[in-house]
Amino acid sequence: MAEELIVAQGSKEEKYKALIPQIEGIVKYERDKVAVMANISAALMETFRFLWVGFYSVDGDRLVLGPFQGPLACTRIAYGKGVCGTAWAESRTLVVPDVDAFPGHIACSSSSRSEIVVPFFQDGAVAGVLDIDSESLATFDDTDALWLGKAMEIFGASLSSGMGKDSERNGVVVYCASSSEVPEKYLEAARETGRLIAEAGYTLVTGGGYRGLMASTIDGALEAGGKVSGVLPHFMIERGWAHTGLTTCLDTPSMHVRKQTMADLSVAAVALPGGIGTLDELCEIMAWRQLKLFSGKVVLVNIDGFFDPLVDMFGKICREGFMRGGELPVKIVSTPQEAIEYIKGDRP
Ligand code: SME
Repeated sequence: MAEELIVAQGSKEEKYKALIPQIEGIVKYERDKVAVMANISAALMETFRFLWVGFYSVDGDRLVLGPFQGPLACTRIAYGKGVCGTAWAESRTLVVPDVDAFPGHIACSSSSRSEIVVPFFQDGAVAGVLDIDSESLATFDDTDALWLGKAMEIFGASLSSGMGKDSERNGVVVYCASSSEVPEKYLEAARETGRLIAEAGYTLVTGGGYRGLMASTIDGALEAGGKVSGVLPHFMIERGWAHTGLTTCLDTPSMHVRKQTMADLSVAAVALPGGIGTLDELCEIMAWRQLKLFSGKVVLVNIDGFFDPLVDMFGKICREGFMRGGELPVKIVSTPQEAIEYIKGDRP
């Protein structure tokens, strides 16, 4: 996302109009729920300078305090209690012009005079609320309800599509050529890799292109009934380079964010034959593995000796002392079958 928030001058509506695309950016490029809630709170606070902006998340029969900006707040609110608990129970936005007139209002700060609470939903159920307090009476109206509702729709949609479900992360990222002008044996190996990844129950994570080994890997996974997450920088999507069968297509602002996103979604990385882009991805994930920035397995599939010169180079790196510990952060195998067996290795 942009490092700096752009705050529009003018009416409340103009401010929200400028804010919403920035909230989309916050949500799109980060998969950690707490990080997203923290930055949405900060963006709202910086734009409007409210008394208190923050989140409560559903935890059993209570709401528990999440990321916020402002004075200390109560940490737990029971279902149906206060404005927050009522918005949860009624699954709707509540605009409270005068908190003293709201039966059961919970006063976290004595300075709070009016409030708005907007629920957000994950998979159809309330997953929490966005709560905003103001020091003035009647600060909030239908305009706030509308725009904050849009913001929570964006956040909720992302939650429903898997944000924050790290335990369910089960991608295997495949790096390979986007060129189709290569011998058929490589395209076949790519298709087999996609099929084996899907059959093993992993989601194929890929650069998402419609050509080359990338497309063959995607086709193989889809033919086997698997899921495919394609991760493409925005400019490639605009040029129409995305494979049309992707289960999910993630749009990133840059190649760097693309590589980070693919790694974040994955428990293992596989490199198949490819060109400079593939080598870049392979070397980067090996470096991340070595630095413990990526904990998954990294496998190089040396189809028909394609990578022999690189394997020799790796050997030289080790022999001449350039590899700390002498051990390469990559497993070299000859077939897609061996690659998937190695990845599945210690899976329960
Ligand atoms: N006023 C809220 C409690 C939360 S604080 O405002 C941060 C309520 O009545 O639910």
